Amino acid sequence: MIHPPQHIAIIMDGNGRWAKKRHLSRTVGHAKGAAVVRDLVKTCADLGVQHLTLYAFSTENWQRPIDEVSTIMGLFIQYLEKEMANMRTEGVHLQVLGDVSRFPPDLQQRIRDAQADPLAQPKITLNVAANYGGRWDIVQAVQAWQQAHPGADAAQLTVDNFGQYLSTAGMPDVDLLIRTGGEFRISNFLLWQAAYAELYFTDTLWPDFDAKELQKAIAWFADRDRRFGKLSSK
Ligand code: FPP
Repeated sequence: MIHPPQHIAIIMDGNGRWAKKRHLSRTVGHAKGAAVVRDLVKTCADLGVQHLTLYAFSTENWQRPIDEVSTIMGLFIQYLEKEMANMRTEGVHLQVLGDVSRFPPDLQQRIRDAQADPLAQPKITLNVAANYGGRWDIVQAVQAWQQAHPGADAAQLTVDNFGQYLSTAGMPDVDLLIRTGGEFRISNFLLWQAAYAELYFTDTLWPDFDAKELQKAIAWFADRDRRFGKLSSK
């Protein structure tokens, strides 16, 4: 029995190229990409993964054409509308990571509704990173710390207590970071939280990333020798 990673983070890349290969619009690619999410969350929960963090919209994605930004927002709203009830019965706790204040008011309201009344014992936490950036997270954590400790000396801020001010407070660090779509970048995703993550890059485009692909990544992870800066345990 393979021990699953506790926390998997995924940069879902390749929706546009998936669509282009089929002479379809990028919108169709994003829609197919959103459809993949549902099955994947279930597969992760069944495998015992406790936290899944998906990069849905980065702080840099605002620079895309306005139509495409609206499409991605629309898909996110649809996902929240359609899946929320199902997710609850399946034990999925949804959390949104990022600065959502720039989103349209109806999306902000849906996010608040989705996060209200959290499950007492969720099977899995699904974090959707939306208007998220790793640098933003670190800066907002420092600001949150300062607000909680007005006038305190910054020397009180340590590597050990810093995590509780990040948007992922209370969650374990990322064990396995997956990027689909053939690029070898972290793209300002969970910079602090992925400090010791194993990095898995695949050419598979996001809409094609199914349960089998996920299992392949987890099997690869199980074979890694995680030393955390120490000597080998093998
Ligand atoms: C990357 O593909 C994908 C995105 C920037 C958006 C991801 C959003 C979704 C899958 C939909 C909403 C999310 C949820 C959680 C339901 P790309 O456009 O960069 O692809 P390309 O590199 O091939 O152009």
